[in-house]
Amino acid sequence: MTSAAASAQREWFKSFLASLLAKLGLVAPLSAREAVRSLAASKIRELYNEGLGRTDILAFWVGEPDEPTPDFIRQAGTDSIGAGELFYTHNLGIPELREALAAYTTRLHRRTDAGQVAVTSAGVNALMLASQLLVDPGDRVVEVVPLWPNLQEIPKILGASVTTVALDFTPEGWTLGVDKLLKELKPGTKALYLNSPNNPTGWTVTRDEQKAILEHCRRHGIWIFADDAYERLYFGSGGVAPSFLDIMDDGDRVISTNTFSKSWLMTGWRLGWLVVPPGLAADLGKLIEYNTSCTPVFVQRAGIAAVTRGEPVIARSLERFRRARDFLVKELRGVPKVEVAVPDGTMYVFFRVRGMMDSLAFCKRLVREHGLGLAPGAAFGPEGEGFVRWCFAAELDRLGDGVARLKRALV
Ligand SMILES: Cc1ncc(COP(=O)(O)O)c(C=O)c1O
Repeated sequence: MTSAAASAQREWFKSFLASLLAKLGLVAPLSAREAVRSLAASKIRELYNEGLGRTDILAFWVGEPDEPTPDFIRQAGTDSIGAGELFYTHNLGIPELREALAAYTTRLHRRTDAGQVAVTSAGVNALMLASQLLVDPGDRVVEVVPLWPNLQEIPKILGASVTTVALDFTPEGWTLGVDKLLKELKPGTKALYLNSPNNPTGWTVTRDEQKAILEHCRRHGIWIFADDAYERLYFGSGGVAPSFLDIMDDGDRVISTNTFSKSWLMTGWRLGWLVVPPGLAADLGKLIEYNTSCTPVFVQRAGIAAVTRGEPVIARSLERFRRARDFLVKELRGVPKVEVAVPDGTMYVFFRVRGMMDSLAFCKRLVREHGLGLAPGAAFGPEGEGFVRWCFAAELDRLGDGVARLKRALV
């Protein structure tokens, strides 16, 4: 049977069942779609609930900088509110911000036109929009894991099936088996979702790996959704992580998603963007209309200040986080049972605790008995079990206190 015939048969059966139930005076129980019901509940949230109402917890479980948005960025937002910029605006973003983001992308990566840029309501919305643009129910997508849970669940909301390829861990570093990945990127696969630098491991794809992946995806018509949220929190040379935008050609199926949250300390503003191949923006504009319609103008004005005047903010964070990373890794290496690699980027250390098999139970115990809030590795997929994520965007003395608490839990 063709898939169209199968779908027609399914529809007929559904409507037959509905009318039968109605005749019997019954209606189907109230519930969300199956794809939504089967989404994983957030394990980080479950843990967070464990510590609600307590004031003594040293929390490193959330992935966000520990400083507020700089004044000049806030000022741009409040000036805009003061000027009464409080109305609906362009679906794809105000032209000034799209121009500024195109110039930024051109400076960092490749010649980009404002027509290829769409402003979104944060990075998570950019990922959802890219997925809605291209992923059909039943599509197969591939992801490199462990991975931020939102990225794992978004394709499932759309009815796609997710195949995972696990990074390999040794205390010397996280590595990707490129051959293993290419084998999973079979013809017919719709998209590869690749987050690099990766949340939670800090692993960062190398230029050679990128070239092999792009070449393969090009040959098989597979989309690459590159989640570049942490590209500016990269501790390697140049301070900008290798990006598919650097090596792609105009006709390549590559979408880069990005966010203001991490680079410019703007998690609460909910501002992000997409860079798409020429020609896709009009359809993206329609999708934005039916999702959020637009991003608030005053938030976009703050974004212009960040992207045009925010390089010192990034440089300062990078230095702070590099010091915090080095300190935390060194301290953790002195804790019994802990195995840890130095992350190439992000603001996370993802460490293994030898002999620990249930990271959620372990992290709940850390909260309850030691007042230490860390994120369980299992929140990042089954491949993260046995690990724990620590966000090191914090002052060194807090990190040191946290390590002392962890030591007490592990002796
Ligand atoms: C890998 C990754 N991508 C995207 C985002 C999106 O961030 P936001 O929705 O705050 O822009 C996050 C946030 O934690 C992330 O970890």
